[in-house]
Amino acid sequence: MFANTLSKNARAVITGAGSGIGKAMALELGRRQSLVVCSDINLDAAEQTASEIRRSGGQAWAVACDVSDLAQVQALADKADELLPEPVNLVINNAGVGVGGKAIGETSMQDWEWTVNINFWGVVYGCHVFAPRLRQQKQAGIINVASTASFSAAPLMGPYNATKAAALAISETLAAELSGTGVTVTALCPTLVKTNISANGRIQGESNELFNRLMDRFGMSAERVARMALDGLDRGQLYVMPQVDARMIWRLKRLLPNTYAAVTGLINRRITSNLT
Ligand SMILES: NC(=O)c1ccc[n+]([C@@H]2O[C@H](COP(=O)([O-])OP(=O)(O)OC[C@H]3O[C@@H](n4cnc5c(N)ncnc54)[C@H](O)[C@@H]3O)[C@@H](O)[C@H]2O)c1
Repeated sequence: MFANTLSKNARAVITGAGSGIGKAMALELGRRQSLVVCSDINLDAAEQTASEIRRSGGQAWAVACDVSDLAQVQALADKADELLPEPVNLVINNAGVGVGGKAIGETSMQDWEWTVNINFWGVVYGCHVFAPRLRQQKQAGIINVASTASFSAAPLMGPYNATKAAALAISETLAAELSGTGVTVTALCPTLVKTNISANGRIQGESNELFNRLMDRFGMSAERVARMALDGLDRGQLYVMPQVDARMIWRLKRLLPNTYAAVTGLINRRITSNLT
């Protein structure tokens, strides 16, 4: 059933491994006997993830890395070369932040820049630094954590939607460039996942309350998303959409391209009025 067994016995590097989806992926990789370099801008949080893996009998290390800084991503790759017994063969570009609650024209330039620096440049740097290394491996993988926002364009999420659309486009480009090599590219596109994204992000006012209520009510666990992402990679899937609503939005947009924005606006207004 699985095209490869990459997530088992991998030599993995994960960004944003201190919390949420990144942490869940790191722990799941540990359970699958992979060696895991857990990196995060917050070294203490990365160290906590790594020590949980070690306490369960696995091998893991913590490395500080701000993905919005190319030199730090390069240093992360060099450090992984030092720590791992053989070259890295799985990279998960997961680190990301949530921004929302203001329309385009009202969102501050600081929030645009903050989001672009982490969600866009973080993925660009991760792919730029690691893709040439992965190419040299017989079997390797790269998971970019995108989002349903990559293609759903919900209102009041301009910077997030734009940077996640870019993460998907980068993944699709990379998949085409690496086809015929041993490298599998997977773009993970979840809807709501129960993590600390709202506490760590800049989602404004009522949108933040709404987001938290929706996340509590409908969010999938990060552990389940992590398992589905790694299984998807092992199956050779380019797109992993863990939830049914993500798959419905994907199809709806193709079915109704011209009315999509109006339908999205209507659904958004319905959800908002039912929950407030
Ligand atoms: N939670 C959701 O509903 C959801 C849905 C779709 C996609 N995602 C994506 O999942 C990814 C992980 O987010 P999460 O939900 O687990 O959030 P989270 O806030 O729980 O975890 C994000 C982690 O990234 C780290 N981080 C933040 N800025 C960083 C930087 N500059 N460099 C390195 N690390 C940094 C944080 O310290 C944190 O440990 C993000 O890319 C997010 O956009 C989340």
